[in-house]
Amino acid sequence: MNIAIITGASSGIGMEFARQMDEGLRRIGEFWLIARRRDRLEELAEKLSHRARVLALDLTDGEDVNRFHRLLERERPLIRMLVNCSGYGVMGTFADLELEEEVGMIDLNCRALTEMTHLCIPYMRKKSRIIQIASSAAFLPQPGFAVYAASKAYVLSFSRALAGELSEAGILVTAVCPGPVRTPFFDRAERGGSTLAIKKYVMAEAEDVVRDALRASGRGRTVCVYGPAIRAFRLLCKAVPQGWILAVMRKLK
Ligand SMILES: NC(=O)c1ccc[n+]([C@@H]2O[C@H](COP(=O)([O-])OP(=O)(O)OC[C@H]3O[C@@H](n4cnc5c(N)ncnc54)[C@H](OP(=O)(O)O)[C@@H]3O)[C@@H](O)[C@H]2O)c1
Repeated sequence: MNIAIITGASSGIGMEFARQMDEGLRRIGEFWLIARRRDRLEELAEKLSHRARVLALDLTDGEDVNRFHRLLERERPLIRMLVNCSGYGVMGTFADLELEEEVGMIDLNCRALTEMTHLCIPYMRKKSRIIQIASSAAFLPQPGFAVYAASKAYVLSFSRALAGELSEAGILVTAVCPGPVRTPFFDRAERGGSTLAIKKYVMAEAEDVVRDALRASGRGRTVCVYGPAIRAFRLLCKAVPQGWILAVMRKLK
């Protein structure tokens, strides 16, 4: 059975991936939708034209990840696509935020994404695709969003290396690095701090970000950055010493 797996499908960018992949990927037999909120996944599954399996899993819970592993071993599907979208960020000063929330970001954004990727690769073949949702936060350390930015730098670095390792097997890996996207992400992210005002001017819609990401993945691009402003930001981060950019950003706050 050909399947597509989407984590974080209960909301925002992950839900939008499910919608657009449902329209665009005809050869998928079943979607596996993963997140903690079963009711939201069931609601989504009903709307899809493909058959969809709801897997209400907390990817930071080892027992839930084991359940997923055992399911793969039992069903032995052919994974055509894995989209790792589950993730969260919390803004605020590192020393003031709850340690549990800080470590939780590393657990979900890095460890769970790595674990899911490792568990799924044995079930992939030539032309299977992996999409890892990183962020433009991966391009630069961010005071006030320190652990989140570091976790996304991990996702970008890991995905680029993995793309190199899997190229011989014909498995495509794309790291998606959007700037701010209008989703419920900010309900949690902004509880302890607030977004730089400038970010609000470059806020993108999930629909556009996902369309661009699917196109980039189809073309085998390793990194996908949506929109001219964020592409310019990436170039800036490559061209200018990070200390200088951080000094300017401190002034913009
Ligand atoms: N929005 C932005 O500005 C932006 C920008 C760049 C990158 N990103 C990245 O894009 C990804 C999706 O974010 P979003 O904007 O779509 O935010 P969102 O609407 O808050 O979605 C986050 C998703 O992660 C799932 N999730 C959270 N904790 C989980 C857990 N323990 N186990 C399994 N799933 C879990 C949530 O589902 P449940 O709560 O049901 O578990 C939800 O489906 C994240 O990796 C985020 O870092 C977002």
